[in-house]
Amino acid sequence: MGGEEKEEIMCGIVAYYGKRNVSEVLLDCLQRLEYRGYDSAGIAICESGNIDIIKTTGKIKHLREKIDINKYSMTHLGIGHTRWATHGVVSDKNAHPHKVDNISLVHNGIIENYMDLKEKIEKRYALQSETDSEIIAHLIAEKYNGDLLNSAINTVKNLKGSYALAIISDKEPETLVLVKKENPLIIGIGEDEIFVASDLTALTAYTDNFIILEDENIAKIYKTDIKLYNFNGDPISTNSKRVKLNFQMANKGGYKHYMLKEIFEQPKALLDTFLNHISNNHEKIIFNEFENIEDRIMSSKSIQIIGCGTSYHAAMIGKYLIEKYSGLSVSVDIASEFRYRNMTPTDNQIIIFISQSGETADTLASVKLVKKNKITTIALTNMISSSITRMTDSTIYTYAGPEIGVASTKAFTTQIIILYLFAIYLGQCTKRLNDRNIKEHIEKIIRLPDLLDGVIKMNDIISEIAMKCINYEHFLFLGRNINYPVALEGALKLKEVSYIHAEGYAAGELKHGPIALISKKVPVFVIATQSQTYDKIIGNIEEIKARNGTVYAIASSGDKRVINLVDGFVFIPSVDEDLSIFPNTVIFQLFAYHCANYLGLDVDQPRNLAKSVTVE
Ligand code: M6R
Repeated sequence: MGGEEKEEIMCGIVAYYGKRNVSEVLLDCLQRLEYRGYDSAGIAICESGNIDIIKTTGKIKHLREKIDINKYSMTHLGIGHTRWATHGVVSDKNAHPHKVDNISLVHNGIIENYMDLKEKIEKRYALQSETDSEIIAHLIAEKYNGDLLNSAINTVKNLKGSYALAIISDKEPETLVLVKKENPLIIGIGEDEIFVASDLTALTAYTDNFIILEDENIAKIYKTDIKLYNFNGDPISTNSKRVKLNFQMANKGGYKHYMLKEIFEQPKALLDTFLNHISNNHEKIIFNEFENIEDRIMSSKSIQIIGCGTSYHAAMIGKYLIEKYSGLSVSVDIASEFRYRNMTPTDNQIIIFISQSGETADTLASVKLVKKNKITTIALTNMISSSITRMTDSTIYTYAGPEIGVASTKAFTTQIIILYLFAIYLGQCTKRLNDRNIKEHIEKIIRLPDLLDGVIKMNDIISEIAMKCINYEHFLFLGRNINYPVALEGALKLKEVSYIHAEGYAAGELKHGPIALISKKVPVFVIATQSQTYDKIIGNIEEIKARNGTVYAIASSGDKRVINLVDGFVFIPSVDEDLSIFPNTVIFQLFAYHCANYLGLDVDQPRNLAKSVTVE
């Protein structure tokens, strides 16, 4: 899409039909989806033969202030949207819903042939916004002949790209039409009421009965009657399924921010995740998910792991663990790079795709790419029934519970515990690890929640270090071996939530460039816990101190060598290097959180970010 602004990117869509106050339900569901985008928001409600549209830039709370809630106590149908734009201004006119004649719609996605369509449409109408979404509304309005479903079916034939749409018309005040292509859309079925949202977590307060729309599904909801069609207009069957999610977990539960709550939840999240993979007698690692692909796993010769952002850092950790315990070679890729590389498939290759949300566009595009090559694909995700689970041969779930803070925390540590278990599992399959080794690993894993509880108790110490650091503009994070990705993740967390520029480096790289940055103004956070490269890390700290640098360190309990060198430290209990990634990660998460909190920033919804990046 060249040229002008138009894209509605990582947005959230909601809709409601029922007897509750429509505006309240829409606002509540939008609030739960706000992590998907928070530049602007709006709702459209069918009211006395008209459609009322209320929209604004800013967050849902700003939208709430603009709505006369009481006006909608007797209305039944409405749609809503929370937007995160990548191009162009954030403005009221670009906010959704868009209305053209009797049609109003909300859209999540990108229309790739927007420019062509726009050229034709603007010859006939004056456009009110700079969005591709308005163009869809024009097309539907043009084709409208008294049947909203038909006009939607006729319109999708003209659209290229990805889109989830919720459409209403004041001519059919009890009909809602939904269209899904490549962006998620879920129908929640209540008693005499219907909910719609871009993901399950927005709806779990209302129902546990869902229809998860597949690609190229169109749904017509008349009152509470749901009918599904394909893009040719042929009826298809509707299968709802019950999904139990713990709604309590999607509240702040007394914490100031979701991010802090989610950091504190990690001991339980890890336990919930690893218990599924350890036999009752604590002697074997189990992956029931591999029932249908066990042969392919046993004969695999190489493994590739792909993800974006934090999930990519988890992939990097997976490489260290799987190579060490299985002997297989592992490569890792950033999904946005992988999808444009000419990959050469090798025989018996397995690719693990990591995505907390299961909706990241680059990761999904990478899955599609390899599917053509008949490679065995495994998804590692936290989101039940997300798109990635339907595209891969097998899915491993993390049981972190809903992660609402935009900065990923508990999703990351649950991803890496799965990768740890998977590495041991491969060692078990290949007999590289004997029964005693496996049992020892399991015992260590079982002690992890307690280990992290201990780290969380050091929250105040970490907060004090953060307090000293908020005036720095730059930060370096150093780690080595399996703690190198932890350093990268520490830097990413700090950047994301505190806006302090931070870079992570493999400590051995210090001399190859970053040492030039060392000065009083650029402090360094070093992972100096016990490891095979401990002496070398001490050497790095000495090099930094010799250049008047400021060093904070994570060290193993009682390590005088480190504390005599550094300006501040946090201790973790003495653990294996492989396990140290968990406490070290949590310390960096808390450090980033406290920096952002002291700076008075919007910790859960940092500027310019959205939780799930559902388009490229
Ligand atoms: O949902 P995913 O795991 O696919 O998301 C990938 C990244 O967008 C995500 O990890 C992002 O980097 C987070 N904001 C990190 O905190």
